[in-house]
Amino acid sequence: MSIIPFYGVDRPDLFAIERAAMDRPGRVIERLDRLLPAGTIADIGAGDGFTAERLATPRRRIVAVEPARAMIDRNRHRTWVQADAEALPFRDGSFDAAYATWAYFFSRGPLDPTPGLEELHRTVKPGGTIVIADNAGDDEFCAFSQHDISADPRFWRGRGFGIEIVDTVFAFETAADAWRLLDFYFDGIGSAPPTLLTYRVALFIGVSQGPPRY
Ligand SMILES: C[S@@+](CC[C@H](N)C(=O)[O-])C[C@H]1O[C@@H](n2cnc3c(N)ncnc32)[C@H](O)[C@@H]1O
Repeated sequence: MSIIPFYGVDRPDLFAIERAAMDRPGRVIERLDRLLPAGTIADIGAGDGFTAERLATPRRRIVAVEPARAMIDRNRHRTWVQADAEALPFRDGSFDAAYATWAYFFSRGPLDPTPGLEELHRTVKPGGTIVIADNAGDDEFCAFSQHDISADPRFWRGRGFGIEIVDTVFAFETAADAWRLLDFYFDGIGSAPPTLLTYRVALFIGVSQGPPRY
């Protein structure tokens, strides 16, 4: 098991502020909605189901996969599986497509995302779409961090993924919300932040190769 500890488990109040502010215009959801087909789709590292709730339609069933039991919100979304991206409890070719938004597949993070990516190729039908959303960097949100918190495009290009950038914003409802979240998230920010920050999101878009042949 390679579960990345997530602050939202202990601080659902702060995660609610983050999820409401992050991409408030819904541009990432809108793009995912166009990229994903009808059928059965996996959301890996689904959090509390924010994205799954918005992408599910009568023709598109989203299976929300999340390892942290405390994150799973059955009021928000119906179909949940508690599992790790590296050991998906599904047969080969179970899904028509899969996506992950800011979860597990952090190419500059503590883990190598390769084992999880192999699981996506195995569980998504050959030719099915795989989309990974992560920070693109070079924006006002990422500039708060002392470290590079953007995805590494070389990692994804090297694995045959294309890249699309979605220009969106972090828009907080109040100055107090902006302060609370950013001060916590970036471990102290010094002065009061604006309530509107530019935010660039990278969508890494690939095609399932199916299970490994050996
Ligand atoms: C930043 S949250 C993103 C949640 C959701 N995708 C969203 O956009 O709101 C990261 C999520 O990844 C989950 N996670 C951590 N390790 C994981 C793993 N090995 N496999 C799948 N998900 C994982 C965390 O529990 C957390 O819910």
